[in-house]
Amino acid sequence: MFSPTALLLFLVGAVVETVVSSPAQVPFQLESSKPRKLHGRFLHITDMHPDPHYAAHTAESTACHRKKAKKKKNDSRYYGTPYSDCDSPFRLTNHTLDFLKENWAHEIDFVIWTGDNARHDNDHKLPRTPSEIYDLNRAVASKMQRIFGSRGIPVIPSLGNNDVWPHNILIPGPNSITNEYASIWSPFIPFPYLQVFQRGAYYTVEVVPDELAVISLNTMYFYDSNKVVSGCAFKEPNDPGNLQIDWLEVQLETYRNRNMQVWISGHVPPSPGNYFPECYVRYTETSLRYQDTIVGHLFGHMNVDHFFFLEADDLKIVPDKENGAIRTNQGGLFETLLEDFSALPKSPKTSDLDDYVVVNVGPSVVPNPYLPSFRIFTYNISEPTESGLAPKKKKKPSKRKHGHRRGNEGNKTHHCQSEEYADTWRCHLDRPWYSDENSPSRRNQRFTPLGYAQYYVSNLHRANKTHAPEFKLEYLTYPADSLHPDPNQELPKEFLYPIPLRHLPDALREPGDAKTKYAPYRMTDLTIGSWIRLGRQLADDKGNKLRKKFRKYMYMGREEE
Ligand SMILES: *[C@@H]1O[C@H](CO)[C@@H](O)[C@H](O)[C@H]1NC(C)=O
Ligand SMILES: *[C@@H]1O[C@H](CO)[C@@H](O)[C@H](O)[C@H]1NC(C)=O
Ligand SMILES: *[C@@H]1O[C@H](CO)[C@@H](O)[C@H](O)[C@H]1NC(C)=O
Ligand SMILES: *[C@@H]1O[C@H](CO)[C@@H](O)[C@H](O)[C@H]1NC(C)=O
Ligand SMILES: *[C@@H]1O[C@H](CO)[C@@H](O)[C@H](O)[C@H]1NC(C)=O
Repeated sequence: MFSPTALLLFLVGAVVETVVSSPAQVPFQLESSKPRKLHGRFLHITDMHPDPHYAAHTAESTACHRKKAKKKKNDSRYYGTPYSDCDSPFRLTNHTLDFLKENWAHEIDFVIWTGDNARHDNDHKLPRTPSEIYDLNRAVASKMQRIFGSRGIPVIPSLGNNDVWPHNILIPGPNSITNEYASIWSPFIPFPYLQVFQRGAYYTVEVVPDELAVISLNTMYFYDSNKVVSGCAFKEPNDPGNLQIDWLEVQLETYRNRNMQVWISGHVPPSPGNYFPECYVRYTETSLRYQDTIVGHLFGHMNVDHFFFLEADDLKIVPDKENGAIRTNQGGLFETLLEDFSALPKSPKTSDLDDYVVVNVGPSVVPNPYLPSFRIFTYNISEPTESGLAPKKKKKPSKRKHGHRRGNEGNKTHHCQSEEYADTWRCHLDRPWYSDENSPSRRNQRFTPLGYAQYYVSNLHRANKTHAPEFKLEYLTYPADSLHPDPNQELPKEFLYPIPLRHLPDALREPGDAKTKYAPYRMTDLTIGSWIRLGRQLADDKGNKLRKKFRKYMYMGREEE
């Protein structure tokens, strides 16, 4: 159903736009576009899953809705039950957002918020309804708007697989769901994208006007649990996944031409295990093609802290390794990741880095199955240098050759003549890539992501009415010594602390580089090269120390089989 409110908004907006662009309004325009002071930080928050039926002192077997647990120590907790299958009491959602309001809202430039703001469908006695899902989303969205939006901090939500009813299923828009979110998120979706949003629930926001954007994708059209779409099938140009990638390409091309940088965000991460194979191929190829424009990819959904790579190898046709055999591993996520990392180049040449993209998956706020957490990213806000800007604009893309590092790629020309592959995307992706060793995803400069600090609640099981949960630093990607000005050098006029000192544990508040407890990764920045180095270190870590840390962060101290 087409929403009359949206039509009205469209008309009103069109009038405003005409007025704004008329010369008489120039002073107004100047004032409204006065640049905000940047802090060089943003928040990534995901998977809050508030549950209005959550009750303390009930059994996990009832999704923490009813009954007492057989053993008293198994009763659900006041602020949420750690390492459980239960969702969050609204109290935890509120506590988290109030904490961010008090402690971080004035330190950050924008908020990437990657979905799932309703409870899971895990209680047959209490099925979810669309109106409950919308109410929960509306409640969280209005709180996000009050805390961040009202201060001029852009908030960029994306749709989760539990934000739709039934869960995982979304037909092509416009439909009642896309229209409902167009309304719930109206403070966040820039007016010019409203119509596209009603069709596909994706949009983009210039978080630093003319310089940096966040593209929010609707991963429901790529997610292979959504059985009502055709998964980017090559022969179905109107499949909503294909339409979304077509749109994404246009956005990236436009931003690239404007010499802007882009974060991509969404709920379900682009992994072979989550995406329809053809959507995965198109997502990977588009990400690699625009490697010079995309500074990073941020997702949620998995509720587990990890990162992985999209690789040029994924676009090869390797007949005896088809049907996902390349990536399926008998072990769990940890083992699969390490196996992937062990295939990374040992000492990558500059041109090798053209073949990789890094995806960062943030852990959830809901303590299901781990602990509540969020991430604060830092990015470079130094003024652009002449040399930093010039080459990217001018560089002409060259047609690339693919290497043969993993698996024997057969003769693509040959395979693509066969019926099996002729109508698949891999046989039709031949546009030149924009890879550039001087771009912010490859070399530290303005807008390069520098690191993140991850905070979590370790005392959730003890928190009660009088003692609220405490967010503490879990770890940082930075080397500990980069948290303070270098004592051996003249103090820079304005040292920008990656993390404000009051948000560091006592052990890190004073300079000194021996304190690696919180900082084992020692990444100087979050460029693709730095991630490959970390992946390689994890794969090669004979002493197992770093690997243990990585595993501990993934499972937040919970023992996994
Ligand atoms: C109850 O708690 C014990 C130990 O804390 C745990 O091993 C067990 O799995 C729990 N039972 C349920 C149903 O959660
Ligand atoms: C959460 O916060 C909202 C307002 O910010 C309030 O209306 C609501 O009652 C709170 N809920 C709980 C359970 O604290
Ligand atoms: C690849 O296959 C095509 C078509 O079958 C053929 O013309 C070409 O010679 C092959 N190239 C190589 C290097 O084998
Ligand atoms: C930001 O980038 C500039 C180069 O443009 C570099 O000199 C500077 O060290 C970077 N800042 C940080 C904090 O890494
Ligand atoms: C709440 O937790 C604190 C700290 O764990 C404890 O001292 C206090 O007795 C608890 N209060 C109640 C009402 O259980």
